[in-house]
This record gives sequence, structure tokens and C-alpha cells, in this order.
Amino acid sequence: APPAAAPATGHPGHTGHAVPVAARAVAPFSVRMPVPKVLKPQSTKGDTDVYAITAKKAKVEILPGTRTEVLTYAGMFPGPTLRVRTGRTAVVKHTNDLGMGTVAHLHGGVTPAGSDGFPMDTVAPGKSREYTYPNQQRAATLWYHDHAHHMEAEHVYGGLAGFYLIDDPAQDSLRLPSGDYDIPIMLRDARFDEKGRLVFQLHDFEHRNTILANGKPQPYFPVAARRYRLRFVNASNLRTFTLRLGKDTQVAQIASDGGLLAAPAAVRSWRMTPGERIEVVVDFSRFKVGSKVVLTDAEAGPVMRFDVGRSATPDTSRVPDRLSTIPALPAATGKRKIVLSFDPVRNRFLINGKQFDQKRVDAEIKRGTTEIWTLTNDAGNFAVPHNFHPHLVQFRVLDRNGRPPAPAEAGVKDTVAVGPGETVRLQATFGPYTGRYAYHCHMIDHSSSGMMAQMKIV
Ligand code: C2O
Ligand code: CU
Repeated sequence: APPAAAPATGHPGHTGHAVPVAARAVAPFSVRMPVPKVLKPQSTKGDTDVYAITAKKAKVEILPGTRTEVLTYAGMFPGPTLRVRTGRTAVVKHTNDLGMGTVAHLHGGVTPAGSDGFPMDTVAPGKSREYTYPNQQRAATLWYHDHAHHMEAEHVYGGLAGFYLIDDPAQDSLRLPSGDYDIPIMLRDARFDEKGRLVFQLHDFEHRNTILANGKPQPYFPVAARRYRLRFVNASNLRTFTLRLGKDTQVAQIASDGGLLAAPAAVRSWRMTPGERIEVVVDFSRFKVGSKVVLTDAEAGPVMRFDVGRSATPDTSRVPDRLSTIPALPAATGKRKIVLSFDPVRNRFLINGKQFDQKRVDAEIKRGTTEIWTLTNDAGNFAVPHNFHPHLVQFRVLDRNGRPPAPAEAGVKDTVAVGPGETVRLQATFGPYTGRYAYHCHMIDHSSSGMMAQMKIV
């Protein structure tokens, strides 16, 4: 008999043997959310900053009173934040002390192919590799994570992810909340067993029920009664977050994956599939001092809590009506169709009916060409959600199911949700570099199962 359709938010596929599920209840809002440390350059020469990161296993306290072995960049969970400026080159020397092949990808980075973290370019245990990031792109919240072929799901789940924030003068001049009031928040889910160990099973969408914010379960975070810029990334393997603050508090969405929107969008909830970033400015002065404001996900429930305290200094930040100019799109000269699907018979995740093959070039594109890609989620009997992320390019969403994108999706993007049965059209200019780059579903259990393809820019 055909298997029953999975719920719209779930995934079919086996989850293997039953592993005891986290019996360890952590009282919500009992631990404080840390902000990942900003990594200092090891050296600076002219317009280049050199950073060094060693990937290694570490035992960290995630659940209070327990140490959990995770995979880390520089011993931190999540990894250290890299904070760079447009026009300054960053060279990041990654050393692999993990005992298995790894490769670092800068998600959202416009990066030469040799530094992009192609899934086959793994660095062997004990070896190092330098990645060069030109940072010739606008201010944005990017993130870096592992991309070793077939292993990225397990590696990212294990902890190999960190923030990479780009600043530029245009953004500085806006006087958005900055410094201590500019907070990156990496959200993800996780599954722990009764001993507090992190449990990974490919395609396990049912048991990853502990929500972590910057590596802590349902933490609290003290804020002053003033404006904050909150930069969210969804670093989950499969989970989509639909967030709201307090009783549907209105916040200003100011940015998406590729940086500032043209104008702030007033939203009461915001949705992020894996890999997507959304930035909002929240004015906590609208709450009474002493308020405890919960950030809630539509499915998972409470994610974290903001505890509002007195503001010691006057708030001079603002959210201007105009944030940025979204560059106009050159006319498209090429078209391509991308079909995302799941084959329940063979339990395979596919792009245009195929699994990833490093020897096959799926799209050859002339450098500098602008194309329109039509993405379809061919759901069949299974309502499997997918999303789509091409390396190298930042794109624009032209329409979703024939309708213009909502303001939240009208800015610069690099990852886009394609729900069951949906069609999304995007437009991008492929360059400025040549070489091979991956594009894939960013539900990374899917991409680890082969839901990936490659383009060659020539
Ligand atoms: Cu975050 Cu190839 O992706
Ligand atoms: Cu997928």
C-alpha cells in the first residue's frame, strides 16, 4: 500500500531505530543566551585581514550541568563570528583537527570558486586550507558552515556553523542599532538522548525537539528598553521557523539574506527556512521595564525570552524610511527550469530528477549572464518542503506562484523557500567569477542525500 502523505511541514523517509529521546527536560528560560565572540584577525596587511580557525571536537555545556561533545570551529558552539567590511579582503585559514574531511562554505558569499567550499574540495584531517573572501558585496548577515559532500548534514548539525557579518559605509550612515544593540541569533533544533548526547539521524524531522538559540536551549536574554537589531539565521537542517514576538508585536524587518531591504517592512511574524536570514529591529521601549517577552515559533513553541530592563543611555538609533537601493536587474538572456522532488520509491531527493554527480555539469553559464530560473516543488503525493540555494550569486525573487513577492522576499536573497506544489521564479546575474559552484536544497539532510547539482560559470 502506498505510504500515507506526510504532513505539510514534515518529511517522509525512514528515521531508523528508536533512540531514547531527550528525557532531559530543561526548564525554559533558565540559561542566558550568549553572543558568539567576534574573532580577531591574526594579522593585517594593507587591505587584507588574516584569520585562523581550527575545527575540532569539544565538550560544551548546552544542557545545564551536562557536557555534550560537538563539532566546533575554534572550540565554540556556534563558531566565532567573523566581522568584516566591504572592500577589505578576509583570508580565513581553516585547520582540520576533526579526524574527518571538512570543507568550509561561506553562505551568501560572492567568492572565487577555489574559496567557495565546493563539496568535493575537502581538507583532509590534520591539513589546512586558506579561503580568500574578497568581500566585494554589500553589508549583509552571512554565515559559514561545513559542506563536505554527503557529510554536511551531520557536520552542520554537529556544530560547524558560525556568523559572518559584512558592514559597509552606506549601512553605517543609517544609524541602525549597533554595537551592544546589534545581536546575531543562530536558531536551530537538536535532539539529545537521556545522557545529553547530541543524536544525529539523517532525515529525522520528528525528534529534534530542543530549540537552541546561539547554542543554548530556550535561553533568556536581557535587553534594555530601547531599539535592538536582531539578526536571525535559521541554521536547522530541516526545521522552518515562523516566529513572532510576545503577543504578535509589530517589528520592522530591515534585511533579508543579501542585506538591507529598500524600506523597512512592518511584520508581526516572520518565516525562515534553513539557511535563510531575517533581520528585524525591535523597539523594546514599547514594553514596560520588567516585562518578559517570549519569542515563539508557530510549531515548536517558545524559542527564547527577552527580559526588558531599564535603558541606561538614551537611544539615538533609528529605522529610516529608506534603507537601501536594491540594484536594478539586467535583462535576462537565459531561462532554466529547476524541479525539486522526492522519489518515495527509492527514497531519493532530486533536482531535475537527478542526484548530485560531481562529474556531471548541470548548467553551463557564461560569466556575466543574467538568467531567470523557474523553481518548482513537484510534491507528488508527499508534501515535502524544499528550498533552494545557489552558491556565488545573490538573486531576486520575481514572483511566487505568479504573485509578486511579499516585502520580506523582495530584497536581495540567496536562499528561498519552495513549498509543496509551489513555483518560484528568480533572476540572477552569474559572476563575477568563473568555475564550478553548487546549487542545492538547503534542507541539508536532503542535500546530503544528493539533492544538489553543479553549475559551471565559463
Ligand atoms: Cu549554506 Cu551550499 O550552503
Ligand atoms: Cu529538499
